[in-house]
Amino acid sequence: MNILVTGGAGYIGSHTCIAAFAAGHEITVLDNLSNSSPEALRRVGKIAGKVPRLVVGDIGDRSVVKSLLDSEKFDAVIHFAGYKAVGESVSKPWEYYVNNISGTLVLLDEMRRHGLYNLIFSSSATVYGNPLPENLPLKESAPLAALNPYGQTKLWLEDVMRAMSAADPAWHILLLRYFNPVGAHESGLIGEDPAGIPNNLMPYITQVAVGRLKELTIFGDDWPTPDGTCIRDYIHVCDLAEGHVAALAKVAELPGCTPINLGSGSGVSVAQLVASFEKATGRPLPHKIGPRRAGDAAACYADASRALELLGWKTKRDSDAMCRDAWRWQSMNPKGYK
Ligand code: NAD
Ligand code: UFG
Repeated sequence: MNILVTGGAGYIGSHTCIAAFAAGHEITVLDNLSNSSPEALRRVGKIAGKVPRLVVGDIGDRSVVKSLLDSEKFDAVIHFAGYKAVGESVSKPWEYYVNNISGTLVLLDEMRRHGLYNLIFSSSATVYGNPLPENLPLKESAPLAALNPYGQTKLWLEDVMRAMSAADPAWHILLLRYFNPVGAHESGLIGEDPAGIPNNLMPYITQVAVGRLKELTIFGDDWPTPDGTCIRDYIHVCDLAEGHVAALAKVAELPGCTPINLGSGSGVSVAQLVASFEKATGRPLPHKIGPRRAGDAAACYADASRALELLGWKTKRDSDAMCRDAWRWQSMNPKGYK
């Protein structure tokens, strides 16, 4: 298939390019490089033997999207482009609404004007809000809620896509709800390169390990979980990338708008992830226990059975592999792509 990948130079997008090339697809990346480096795509080329075509432009710029879709026929779009930092979305809600919502509306409108109806959308487990324990593991039918402007953009775009596909049966949309993507390609050439001090657990851990940060603070050890630390569903980014390739294979057969969890289906605690990381590096990770982080859920993990049933996909890599690969990327690239 000939695929348009918005945000394809980013963390998940660059790994997905490798998996999509391996499956024989052709790729054009549309990315404004607001949170990524073209170096990531050069490195995709080193790994895959092929560099994706890069169009530097904004999904919200109608002239760019229109001329791209006028000039080339695509079979499907994988739509990663967007801002993704929860904390930043609280301080800059307008930027999040404009970039994620307005940008996506332009993309969707140009897609339908060009008769391009196969879409794989990066949604997030954030649409489940702060899950109640009785709803775990989370099925796609669990109640939805947005806790911050970032979450609102994902939930609102899901609603837009549900309404559009209810009104027009031509659409085939897969809403992929990612749980906690971590890790890096096993080559160590590409990985997560967050700007500034990371908010998420794994990049914080790797930056402590490489000496860029002093120590990890575990946000609370008094949660109602077996070891008192929060539980999440971490998913290796290469498994996630392969999930997109599985979605590409099925999108044309799945009419309407279908939410699908992409997670491992099992929960890992913060303390367990730290222990896996220490095993991967063979040395202790400086850490201390701090207070709970406002807004955190005690536990959040997927029921991953729909992905297996509809896409024939499930995760293959465990938390040891996630830690080993995240560490290889960070130690080979202590300053990321810089
Ligand atoms: P990322 O920031 O690494 O990648 C996003 C890419 O989109 C970047 O290359 C950025 O330059 C580009 N971009 C942003 N706005 C754009 C615009 N208006 N036009 C063109 N390009 C634009 O993020 P990621 O971790 O790879 O996440 C990809 C998608 O997955 C995002 O939509 C994110 O919300 C979603 N998601 C991520 C996670 C996670 O933990 N990483 C979890 C759930 C969902
Ligand atoms: N944590 C720490 N110390 C840190 C950072 C995180 O103890 O320095 C803990 C958090 O309290 C949480 C766990 O590690 O218990 C994971 O935290 P992350 O910030 O890595 O991930 P979250 O599950 O909080 O949120 C992430 C994304 C959201 C997305 C959600 C589900 O940031 O955008 O996964 O996909 F919605």
